[in-house]
Amino acid sequence: MISLSAIRKTYGMEQPLEVLRGVSLEIPDNDFLAIVGPSGSGKSTLLHIMGLLDRPTSGELHFEGKNVAQLSDDELSGLRGSSIGFVFQSFHLISHLSTLENVELPLFYLRVPPGKRREIARECLHRVQMDHREKHLPTQLSGGECQRVAIARSLVTHPPLILADEPTGNLDTKTGSEIFRIFTDLHEEGHTVVIITHDRGLAARVPHRVGIMDGLIVDGGAA
Ligand SMILES: Nc1ncnc2c1ncn2[C@@H]1O[C@H](COP(=O)(O)OP(=O)(O)O)[C@@H](O)[C@H]1O
Ligand SMILES: [Mg+2]
Repeated sequence: MISLSAIRKTYGMEQPLEVLRGVSLEIPDNDFLAIVGPSGSGKSTLLHIMGLLDRPTSGELHFEGKNVAQLSDDELSGLRGSSIGFVFQSFHLISHLSTLENVELPLFYLRVPPGKRREIARECLHRVQMDHREKHLPTQLSGGECQRVAIARSLVTHPPLILADEPTGNLDTKTGSEIFRIFTDLHEEGHTVVIITHDRGLAARVPHRVGIMDGLIVDGGAA
C-alpha cells in the first residue's frame, strides 16, 4: 500500500527543524499499524506525508506503487480523495451541520447526487451505530459519538486506507476502547489501517507496531 524510503522532513528556512530524519517503512495492503512515540517526535508529520497531505523534503514515497514525487498536486489530491480516509483526535466535524450532513460532505465535494449521498452516508452511519442520531448537531453528541460520526465520514468514499491521528486521545478509556474496536473491525474487513496512539494498552492490541523518537523509527519498520 505504502512504501517509505529514507523520508526526511524539515520545517522552516531560517532555523530549519528536521522533524523526520530518515524514516523507512513498508505498509503492506491490509496492514494494521500502530505508530507510538512521545509528543513532538514527528508522528503527525509522518501521517500527513503518508496521507499525501504534505510532501517529504527528501526520500521516496510510493503509494499504491506510484512514486508520489512524479505526481502533480492535482493528481495527489485525486489519489487522496479516492484512497484515504482521515480520522483526527479532535473529530473536525462542522458544528452547524447535522450528523448526516457532516458524513455526506466528502461526497458533496465529489459531486455525488443528493439521493446517492444520503444513501451512502446512512450506510456509513449505520456501520458505526449512529443512524439514530442523524439530525443531531455535533454539540449535541458525546465525544465518542462525535468520533463515530467522524469515522463514518472517513468511510463514505470506501477508501482502502484509513489514517487515524490519536483518534482516542480525547476520550475516556472505555469509550476509547469502543472506538478502537471499530478500527479493528475495519482492518478485519480488509482496510489498511494506520493509527497513531499514546495508549500503550491499545497499541498492544495492534499486530504491527513501530516506535518513533526524535524523527527516527526506534523499533519495528525497515532498517
Ligand atoms: N507546519 C509546521 N511548521 C513548523 N514546525 C512544525 C510544523 N508541524 C510540526 N512542527 C514541529 O515538528 C515537531 C513534530 O511535530 P508532530 O509531527 O506534530 O509531532 P507529534 O505528532 O509526534 O506530536 C514538533 O516540534 C512541531 O512543533
Ligand atoms: Mg501529533
